[in-house]
Amino acid sequence: MRVLGIETSCDETGIALYDGEKGLLAHALHSQVAMHSQYGGVVPELASRDHIRRIIPLINSVLEEAGVIKTDIDGIAYTAGPGLIGALLVGVAVGRSLAYGWGIPAIGVHHMEAHLLAPMLEDNAPECPFIALLVSGGHTQLVEVDEPGQYRILGESLDDAAGEAFDKTAKLLGLGYPGGPALSALAEKGNPDRFTFPRPMTDRPGLDFSFSGLKTHALNTVSAHDLDDGLRADIARAFIDAVVDTLVLKCQRALEQTGLRSLVAAGGVSANRQLREALANLADDLDAKVYYPRPAFCTDNGAMIAYLGCLKLAAGLKEPLQFKARPRWPMEELVPS
Ligand code: KG4
Ligand code: ZN
Repeated sequence: MRVLGIETSCDETGIALYDGEKGLLAHALHSQVAMHSQYGGVVPELASRDHIRRIIPLINSVLEEAGVIKTDIDGIAYTAGPGLIGALLVGVAVGRSLAYGWGIPAIGVHHMEAHLLAPMLEDNAPECPFIALLVSGGHTQLVEVDEPGQYRILGESLDDAAGEAFDKTAKLLGLGYPGGPALSALAEKGNPDRFTFPRPMTDRPGLDFSFSGLKTHALNTVSAHDLDDGLRADIARAFIDAVVDTLVLKCQRALEQTGLRSLVAAGGVSANRQLREALANLADDLDAKVYYPRPAFCTDNGAMIAYLGCLKLAAGLKEPLQFKARPRWPMEELVPS
């Protein structure tokens, strides 16, 4: 089965074509980062309008790259949520309408479920069951995965997501949007011994997270000093050490609690170098294995949507003509594929 995947939940238009037998045939991405960066964050209305401009040309270029024509496509998958409502509606409406016009089934998929399964696109794919650490701009979750479609949320952030904390702290330090990669690079130059930031919610049992206090801690540190390049780097370092230590400790707890030894890390923050190094050390200590998507599939992309859509459509799931976009969509509500 050959599935066209469409991702428009936030500030990236991602399109891909996935073949159930041959794997990924082609993918393309248009990032809106340059457009939003002058505003210091995503402007939802601009995001929706840009998706409208990009989506059809990107679909055409993916089909051309794959050497596929529309009659070779068996189904269409699009991100139905969670995300920005206007941005989601572009992908949902285009995907559903194309499927109607082409007489093929369509399915709306969950953005975080797609992130979670993105490592399945790699040669070195994990086998179920595993623990997934989902760390994106909107979500931080630890999920026990029995099989695709069977998820148990073990813990999640009670306030800011890890990526959101990266972006807010980066903004505070005068770095651009999105701040994760810039903050990570700056932290490399920082002194690890100058400041120690708290490791939120690690002093009690459980697998939930809370990251909003870290940006306040960073703000208070900035206010108490004269901000110069050295201070910026030292704060970046203290911030990242705290986030990474916290994430790794909760991963360790999840592995120990379940007895599982496979860990998947996915979502934008899983591209982070410091986090990957620390997870590799954890895996060594526990005799466990860590799996990631390639960096381009850690952040938002169409390939993960096409892959998940292919699983669901091949299992016979499809949607009626009325389409639905869900800005909020708890993962617990997912039906098994
Ligand atoms: O998964 P994603 O592309 O979009 C959402 O679903 O939210 O994640 C975007 C987030 C942003 O907060 C961005 O700053 C963060 O991922 N990010 C990083 C890195 N690359 C992206 N954070 C830390 N280090 C990175 N290398
Ligand atoms: Zn995402």
